[in-house]
Amino acid sequence: MYFEQIAMDMTNKAHNPYSNYGVGACLVAKNDKVYTGCNIENASYGLTICAERTAIFKAVSDGEKEFKEIYIATKDGGYPCGACRQVMAEFCDDNLKIIIINTTTSIVIHRTLGELLPKAFRL
Ligand code: THU
Repeated sequence: MYFEQIAMDMTNKAHNPYSNYGVGACLVAKNDKVYTGCNIENASYGLTICAERTAIFKAVSDGEKEFKEIYIATKDGGYPCGACRQVMAEFCDDNLKIIIINTTTSIVIHRTLGELLPKAFRL
């Protein structure tokens, strides 16, 4: 519940003037450190970064590369995009827990990276 709430709160930090779609993320490292993220849009739309990657890049740039779960909150229970799933696969194995929160209905869905990105490409 604590991490779900952090992800929900992060939707309010989103910079989303173009889509008006806020995404909040709360990434929990194996050492229990917490990294938050929100989507950050740009007038040059393609430069937008998703909430999940914001959180992952904050963590990695802080020296953290081992994660156990990521909480993602949106108003409609949206799933992480393919680009974010691939970035998760760079640092996490198929057992990474992905918790998806619908802030409108409060429905919470638990998935794993292996379920959302089967046969992930890794080198
Ligand atoms: N977005 C995310 O933050 N995460 C996703 O996994 C999907 C999409 C953002 C990007 C953009 O700011 C808005 O949602 C609409 O696409």
